[in-house]
Amino acid sequence: MQIHFVKTAPADVRLIARIVNQGDSLADLDPALADGAKAARFGGKTGQVFEGFAHQDDSLRRVALGGAGEKASAKRDLNVEKAGSALVAKFLRSGETDMVLDLGHGDLSAEEAASALLGARLRGWSYDKYRTKLASEKRVSLETIYVINAPSGTETAWDEAAAVAKGTEFTKRLITEPANILYPESFVELCREAFEGTGAEITVLDEPAMEKLGMGALLGVGQGSERASRMLAIRWNGGGQEKPTVFVGKGVTFDTGGISLKPPPGMEDMKWDMGGAGAVAGAMLALVSRKAKANVIGVMGLVENMPDGKAQRPGDVVTTMSGQTVEVLNTDAEGRLVLCDALHWAQEEYDPAQIIDLATLTGAMIIALGHEHGGLFANDDDLASQLSDAGFATGDKLWRLPIGPAYDKLIDSPVADIKNVGPRPAGSITAAQFLHRFIRKGTPWAHLDIAGMVFSDKPGHTWDKGATGYGARLLDRFIKDNVEG
Ligand code: BES
Ligand code: MN
Ligand code: ZN
Repeated sequence: MQIHFVKTAPADVRLIARIVNQGDSLADLDPALADGAKAARFGGKTGQVFEGFAHQDDSLRRVALGGAGEKASAKRDLNVEKAGSALVAKFLRSGETDMVLDLGHGDLSAEEAASALLGARLRGWSYDKYRTKLASEKRVSLETIYVINAPSGTETAWDEAAAVAKGTEFTKRLITEPANILYPESFVELCREAFEGTGAEITVLDEPAMEKLGMGALLGVGQGSERASRMLAIRWNGGGQEKPTVFVGKGVTFDTGGISLKPPPGMEDMKWDMGGAGAVAGAMLALVSRKAKANVIGVMGLVENMPDGKAQRPGDVVTTMSGQTVEVLNTDAEGRLVLCDALHWAQEEYDPAQIIDLATLTGAMIIALGHEHGGLFANDDDLASQLSDAGFATGDKLWRLPIGPAYDKLIDSPVADIKNVGPRPAGSITAAQFLHRFIRKGTPWAHLDIAGMVFSDKPGHTWDKGATGYGARLLDRFIKDNVEG
């Protein structure tokens, strides 16, 4: 979606949209439109859209109103964002290629106007590349939004929001690509392209390098795959001498379960088992694109989990980079095996001030929280509440769950230091406990289990069906509100 700020609406654009708060007067509209909106029960509620036709300047115009709810709402930014996204959702495949968005209504601040544009742009992202026979009336038509009457300062606010949009779109793209296209090496290539010329520094470890470092857990997961595993780090130094914040993402480009093979129905979903790494890559692109004043490193453990003659077996014992040994009871609990080496390496390499990992780690997380909240686990209350707040502000919501020594006992192994699965109860918590064993004492750490959040079979306000982009905005906002000075 292209967004252009212009002085006057291009004469040949038929579709003209504006944002309306609950209770706003429509008196300046063509009377037939104002009556029509009333007759259609349009009252400016958040996300409500009205569409009517009117003759203006001798040609037929399609006029749309997007509701932003009550002006005084505590969620004003998100509500305005929803107005922008609802307008785009309505016209995305309507046949219209252009929209004029008149931001001179609804009493918007510059930041709120930028939120409307963010909603519009995010909702406009789609990826129909592989649909060569899609009927023309189902194809995305809307390509350009011409913004008129924007409050002063909107363009500056939009520069920053556009960086966030760019990062979120990158997350969606990575998640959408199927696993024959996106595997560890091609994930790295896509990142190299996306970060080219941005000033970010990219480090890649190949298998021999990881073997040298002793990453037996991560390498064990990738052992049954024809695709070589990779560790990817993207570093952004925008904050002087400060110790960095490190994000770590689970990047399992496909999770068959390995020898503990998953059942066929729904296995295709496991192409987005790299959602944690996708969120980290997208957040880094947002931070780099808006030149955030912070030191941040995104580390991604990239592997494919396949069954094969060379694959690891249930019962195998692997030695992690930290020296701790793990009894692999279930090869489908692979995410924690990837993350434990990524977390340990990230701490050794970068000595972080704080470390946050994201992973589509457990199905049990979806049972607990559904698709409304990601699970949040932390050894530090301040970090936990900062992340919760960033989630609330961006709509990438989180809900905290407990960790503690009683849960930790459940993953003691009789043959090694740790086993990679506990009993069925508290499956998401024991997975978090596993990761906690790889965190240095005194380092604030949070683990976000986003299994239910990265993909959706229904459209939402910032996504069409499919990849949601969850996590990119959350991490960007966390840095903006807590790390940047
Ligand atoms: N990638 C899955 C978790 C998952 C499941 C994410 C469904 C999204 C949707 C993970 O690797 C996994 O298989 N976890 C197992 C752990 C179990 C073997 C302890 C699970 O949740 O079943
Ligand atoms: Mn698995
Ligand atoms: Zn997995």
